[in-house]
Amino acid sequence: MPSLSSDPQATGLAPRLVAWRVLEAVADGAYADLALERELKRQPLPPRDRALATELAYGAIRQRRCLDLWLDRYGKVPAAKQPPRLRWLLHIGLQQLLHADRVPTSAAVSTAVELAKRQRLANLAPVVNGLLRAVARAIAAGESLPMPMEPRQRLAVEHSLPDWLVNELWERIGPERTADLAAASNRIPSLDLRINPLRTTVEAQLQAFADAGVAAAAIEGLPQGISLSGRPGALTQLSGFGDGHWCVQDRSAQRIVPLLALTPGLRVLDACAAPGGKSTHIAELMCDQGEVVALDVTPSRLRQVQANVQRLGLNCIKTEAADATDLEHLEPGCFDRVLLDVPCSGLGTLARHVDARWSLRPDVIEELTHLQAQLLDQGARLTAPGGRLVYATCTVHPAENRSLVEAFLADEPSWQLQESMLELWPSPDQPGDGFFAAVLTPPG
Ligand SMILES: C[S@@+](CC[C@H](N)C(=O)[O-])C[C@H]1O[C@@H](n2cnc3c(N)ncnc32)[C@H](O)[C@@H]1O
Repeated sequence: MPSLSSDPQATGLAPRLVAWRVLEAVADGAYADLALERELKRQPLPPRDRALATELAYGAIRQRRCLDLWLDRYGKVPAAKQPPRLRWLLHIGLQQLLHADRVPTSAAVSTAVELAKRQRLANLAPVVNGLLRAVARAIAAGESLPMPMEPRQRLAVEHSLPDWLVNELWERIGPERTADLAAASNRIPSLDLRINPLRTTVEAQLQAFADAGVAAAAIEGLPQGISLSGRPGALTQLSGFGDGHWCVQDRSAQRIVPLLALTPGLRVLDACAAPGGKSTHIAELMCDQGEVVALDVTPSRLRQVQANVQRLGLNCIKTEAADATDLEHLEPGCFDRVLLDVPCSGLGTLARHVDARWSLRPDVIEELTHLQAQLLDQGARLTAPGGRLVYATCTVHPAENRSLVEAFLADEPSWQLQESMLELWPSPDQPGDGFFAAVLTPPG
């Protein structure tokens, strides 16, 4: 197929085709960010179209449930029974009609019809046209979807979340926090950076961004934090990236490593390290002096750690592929500090990982808690007397957080919880992922 972006007849088709293909890939089990990256390599787009493709793909994946309800209401066949390619193309059209203020209705409809014609759905082009026009008329007439009366179901429909997830959270964290999390899960997440203090300062980097016309501001309360706004474009092209002056890290995640109370020269274990956001933060706060052992069970993900370490110019990090539940060969107490940033259900990052709400299953959470408890036991064994262990997740599920730490303390009464547990709840009004951390110290 010729490149759509170089076809004069194809105005606006290329970004929508990219978004459509991302929806198909995600339905087949791909991660949205990786699918988008792959499609953008296949069909390179100018920055404006790239932004539109991203907005449509991510928005339509988040809104999958609501978009299906519109299809159920106006289609002859319910969404779940439609041929999947048609369903995802209609989602791209509907997402524009319902959520893309800057796209005129005519463009949303005509591009979807044209894509159907050009992409092996020509016989269904009249269906695409008829359905999208019917929804456009309904929206113009002020119609909206009927909402269930039952509050949990209503919340799930309103914010396009699976019922089981809202029920589970409602039971575990209560209605208010569940409502906040639901609303936060559909906002565009902030784009935060962490300055590498071994290479630059927040002030110098802000000046460099200002000189390049990139909108940026320091994040209050975070000594290394900068937030970008507007559409900064490809991050790897921004000032300071190639020179290792900063890395991308959400503002909540930036609050975890300081809990380790680091000083230069310590021996630190980061047991679940990839892609290295926290290992590199540890090395920065130790002025690159001492030793950071960065383990991860997935060798391919460790390559990302190595790339980040290299770009940021850090020397004290040693990477190793290993299962951190199985470190019996290491001497007990051989690390001054241990970070366990464990694999988790990611419920604090639903806005960022747009497909997670559809791939997560309740039994996965239970399986994760077994793994997390094993990781905590192993990390505790390796923490030196007088040392410190930080257990962290990017979820809000108590079984993975508070309850797990309380069970550990009940089994190991000589360990102590330092300060109160850090619980950052996702909020629709405040940027930042949901995060949890507990600081634990061994006896002696
Ligand atoms: C939440 S991520 C870590 C993020 C990382 N700390 C950062 O800040 O960039 C969890 C990591 O744990 C790894 N992991 C899962 N099971 C593991 C195990 N048994 N041993 C070591 N790593 C594991 C996953 O591959 C994943 O990279």
